[in-house]
Amino acid sequence: MINSHVFPIGFEQFGILLICLIVAAAATSSLLAETLRESGLGLSPAELRCEYRADPLGIDVSRPRLSWIVTSAERGQRQTGYQVLVAGSEAILKLDKGDLWDSGQVKSDDTTAIVYGGKPLLSNQPCYWKVKVWDKDGKPSTWSSLAVWSMGLLEPSDWKGEWIGYDKPRATTASGPASGAAKPESAKLVLPPPSYLRVTFPVRKPVSRATVYSTALGIHDLHLNGQRVSDDYFNPGWTDYTRRVYYRAYDVTNRIHPGDNALGAILADGWYSGYVGFGKQRDHYGKHTRFKSQLHLEYADGSTEIVATGTNWKAATGPIVEADFLMGETNDARAAVHGWDEPGFDDSRWTPVITGTEVKPLIQAHPGPPVRPFAELRPKTITETKPGVYVLDLGQNFAGVLRLKIHGEPGQRVTLRFAERLSPDGTIYTTNLRSARCIDTYICDGKGEETWSPRFTFHGFQYVEITGLKSPPTVGTVTGVALSSDTPIVGRFECSDTMLNKLHSNGYWTQRANFIDIPTDCPQRDERLGWTGDAQVYIRTATLNCDVQAFFNKWLVDLIDGQRPNGQFPMVAPVKVAGDDGGPAWADAGVICPWTIYQVYGDRRLLERQYPSMLKFVEFCRKRSTPELLPSARYHCFGDWLSIGADTPKDVIFTAYFALSTKLTAEAAEVLGKTEDASRLHNLYRKIKAAFNNAYVSGDGRIKGDTQACYVLALAVDLVDGERARQAARYLVEDIEKYNNHLSTGFIGTKDLMLVLSKIGRHDVAYRLLFNDTFPSWGFSIKQGATSIWERWDGWTPEKGFQDPGMNSFAHYSFGAVYQWMVENIGGIKSDGPAYKQILIEPHPGGRLTHAETWYQSIRGQIATSWIKEGETLSLIATIPANTTATVILPASGPEAITENGRSLNQSEGVKVESSAAGRTVLKVGSGRYTFVTKTK
Ligand code: BGC
Repeated sequence: MINSHVFPIGFEQFGILLICLIVAAAATSSLLAETLRESGLGLSPAELRCEYRADPLGIDVSRPRLSWIVTSAERGQRQTGYQVLVAGSEAILKLDKGDLWDSGQVKSDDTTAIVYGGKPLLSNQPCYWKVKVWDKDGKPSTWSSLAVWSMGLLEPSDWKGEWIGYDKPRATTASGPASGAAKPESAKLVLPPPSYLRVTFPVRKPVSRATVYSTALGIHDLHLNGQRVSDDYFNPGWTDYTRRVYYRAYDVTNRIHPGDNALGAILADGWYSGYVGFGKQRDHYGKHTRFKSQLHLEYADGSTEIVATGTNWKAATGPIVEADFLMGETNDARAAVHGWDEPGFDDSRWTPVITGTEVKPLIQAHPGPPVRPFAELRPKTITETKPGVYVLDLGQNFAGVLRLKIHGEPGQRVTLRFAERLSPDGTIYTTNLRSARCIDTYICDGKGEETWSPRFTFHGFQYVEITGLKSPPTVGTVTGVALSSDTPIVGRFECSDTMLNKLHSNGYWTQRANFIDIPTDCPQRDERLGWTGDAQVYIRTATLNCDVQAFFNKWLVDLIDGQRPNGQFPMVAPVKVAGDDGGPAWADAGVICPWTIYQVYGDRRLLERQYPSMLKFVEFCRKRSTPELLPSARYHCFGDWLSIGADTPKDVIFTAYFALSTKLTAEAAEVLGKTEDASRLHNLYRKIKAAFNNAYVSGDGRIKGDTQACYVLALAVDLVDGERARQAARYLVEDIEKYNNHLSTGFIGTKDLMLVLSKIGRHDVAYRLLFNDTFPSWGFSIKQGATSIWERWDGWTPEKGFQDPGMNSFAHYSFGAVYQWMVENIGGIKSDGPAYKQILIEPHPGGRLTHAETWYQSIRGQIATSWIKEGETLSLIATIPANTTATVILPASGPEAITENGRSLNQSEGVKVESSAAGRTVLKVGSGRYTFVTKTK
C-alpha cells in the first residue's frame, strides 16, 4: 500500500518513491492477474515452448516455432488473438518491448507452431520471449511469464574447435572384473578406457554471458571448474555419424571465475565405437573417439572470446578402466585424478591430444531432449543367495544405473551384475542378456565413505547381484537411478482395477526404459536398436504417456538417414547391425510415425520434412509389387512377430501395410495441399484394396490365413466394406472365442486388435481380452509378477519357465500399445481431427470396472475424465482445455436422462444437445469442467 501522507521530497527520495510505485503497480497488476486467474476469469497463457521444448538452448532452426497453452476456469473460453514479444535481453522484454520481434496483436486462435517472424537470428544469440492473449470477449490477458531460447552455431564456419582425442594403444582387455561371476568370454573383450581431456584458460574481465557447446564421436561428459556441466547422460546421442552428429549448448555464466578456469571432458566409446547390438560387434563408425567443444565468453565490456578444442588440450586416462553400453563400467577409485577438471592442476605429464576424424559428419543442434535421471529406486528386498553373494530387488524393471555407497578398504573390488528376473533358486537370471556382459565394478580407494555411479553405461534390470562386500548390504548401499530421454509425463491413469493400473504402470516404465535417445526394442540384452516395427506399433501410445514430440522429431531424421536410395526404410534406425530392408510393417514406420506425430501435435513442418521420404517409400512399395499390386516373388517380412499359434500369411500383411502407407501418405498430401499427389495416392489405395479383396478374400468373406490378425488388419485399414466387413468382424470374434476368449496376435495384430473390436462395437469382447489373466494375455504377465511389458506373451510360464533365452526380453513395449485403447475407450478421450483442437469424449465402461480416471496433457492443455458407474447411473466429470471444443457422447436415451452439475441440460451453461438416438446422446461443449450424471436405462 502506498502511504497517502504527502511529504516534501528531494530528488533522491523521489527516485525511491518512483521505484516503489513501479514495484507496487507491478505487484498490483500481478495480483490482479492472480486474482483473475483464481477467479478463473479470462485466459492466461502458460507453458511456453520453442521448437517443442521449454527454454531450449542452442537450437539451429532459423525461424523457430513458438507454442503455449491457454488456461481458464471459465466455460467456453477461447483465444481470439495473441501478441508475441521476442527480445535480445531480459531487460528489454521487461519493458514490454520486442526488439527482435513484436508480432503485434494477431487475430488468431492458434497456440501452436507460431513461426517466429522477426529479425534474422544470429549464432549464439539469446532470445527472451513472452506472449499475451485475448479471450473470447476481446479481453487481453497479462503477459505470460518470461521464456527463453538461444540460437546455436548456425554456420559450419562458426565452429572454431577442432576434433580432438587420445588414441590409446588398444588391447583386448583381461582387466575386466575378476569376479568369478563374469562370463568367460569377457576376457576377450576389447574395452579401452575412456579419455580425459582438459585445457586451462584465463578470464581477465567480468563475464556477462558464457555458453558452452560440445559434441563427440563417442559419448562424453563435459566438466568445467571441477564440476560436471550438466546431469545429461550419453551426449550427443546416437545418429548416423557418417552423416551428422549433434551438439548441445549449456549456459555456464555462473560457473566462470575471474582468473584461471578449466574445461574438460571424459570421452567414452558409446554408440560410435563401443559394443552395439547383437553379434559382439564394435567400432561401428570408427575406432577413434573424438570430442569437440567451444566456450563462448561474452564480456561485460561487449568484447567476446572463444575457448575452443585444439592442439593446446592435454589428454590422459583416469580411474575409469573401461566403459561400454553393453559390457558395463569399471572404476578404480585408487586411480582417481583429483582436480583434473580444475585450474591449477599439473597436467605436465599428460599427452598432447590428437586431432582429425575418421568420419566427416555435419554438426547440428540436437533436436531432441537429453537423457536424464527421472526416478530413484530403493531396494525392496535383500537376499543372500550364497555366502557373500547378495541379490537386491529394486521392485521395478527399468533402464539405468546404480549409485553405490560404500565404506571399503583400499583395493576392495565390488562387482554388480544385473538381471530382469530371478532363476527359481533366487539367483539372478542373466542368460537372456546374450552377449551383453552387463557388469559394473568398483574398486575402492578406502578413504572413508565412497559414492560411485557409472556415467557411460546403462542396464535394463530389476535385480542386482552384489559381491565383494565385507559386510551385508543395507537398503542404503545401492540406489537405482532410472534414465530416460527427458520426455515430460503427460498421461495418468487410475481405475478401480489393480491389474489395469499395473498394466498402465508397466507400459509407462517400459517406454521410459526404451526411450534412450532413440526408441529401442529393449534396454537389457545385446540389442538396444531402434527397431522400426516396434516404434510404429507403439508410437501412438507413447504420445499418451509422455510428450515425445521432440524425441520423435529427432528419430525421424535417423529414419530418413536410413532410407535406402530406392525408397525402402530400414529395420532399425540408425541403421547398424540389422538390415536396411525393414519389410512390411517395419519399414512402414517411415510413414506411420510422422503421420502420428502430425495427428497428435499438428506438426506440419515435420510432415513437410518427412513427406518426400514417405512418397518415395510408397513408390518403392508400388514398384516392388506385381502389376496387380501384390507381393512379388521375393521379399522380406517379419510377419505378425511373436504371435501365438497363428500364422498370418506374410502376403496379407504386405498388402495391408502397402495400403495403409498409401492411404496415410495420401492424407498427408492433402494436409500439405499437394492435391495431385493426394488424388493419385487415394486412387492407388483403392486399387490396392481391390487387389487385397481379389487375392485374399473369398466368397464367404474368409480372409487368407483366417487368423485374428488377418481380420484385424483388414478392418483397421478399411480394406473390406459392407457385408465383407460384417463377415470379417464376425470371424474375428469367432476366432477369439475359438481360442477360449484369448488373442493369438503378435506385435502387428495386437497393435490394432482392441481398437478394431471397439470399432466394430464389440467393447465387450475387448474387455474380456483385457481382463484375462490366463496365457496369452496382458494379465498373465502381471500375475507372474511383471513390472514391465514382456517381449513375448510367454516370456515365463509356470509350466515351461523361461522362453528361449535367444530372444526373451522383459522390457519390450509393443504389447503395451494397448494403452491407446485404454485412454480412448476407458477414459473415452480421443482427438477429433488433428492435435486435439476438437475432442471426443466417450467413455465405454465395461467388464468389472466401476470407476476410472484418465488424464492427458495435450498440446492444448489438460483433458481429463473421471467416471463412476453405480448400477444404472454413470457419473462423468470431463475437463476440456480452453480454446478447444468437445463432443461428449453419453449412454442415455435422451437429454432428459442427463444432468450437468445437478441441473437439467437446458439450464446448464455451455452444453448444447446435438442429437439423441439409439441410446446415445450427443452433446457439444466448449472448454471447462462438466459434471454429468446419466441414467443409462
Ligand atoms: C527385436 C524386435 C524386432 C525384431 C524384428 C528383435 O530382435 O527385439 O523387437 O522387431 O527383432 O523381428
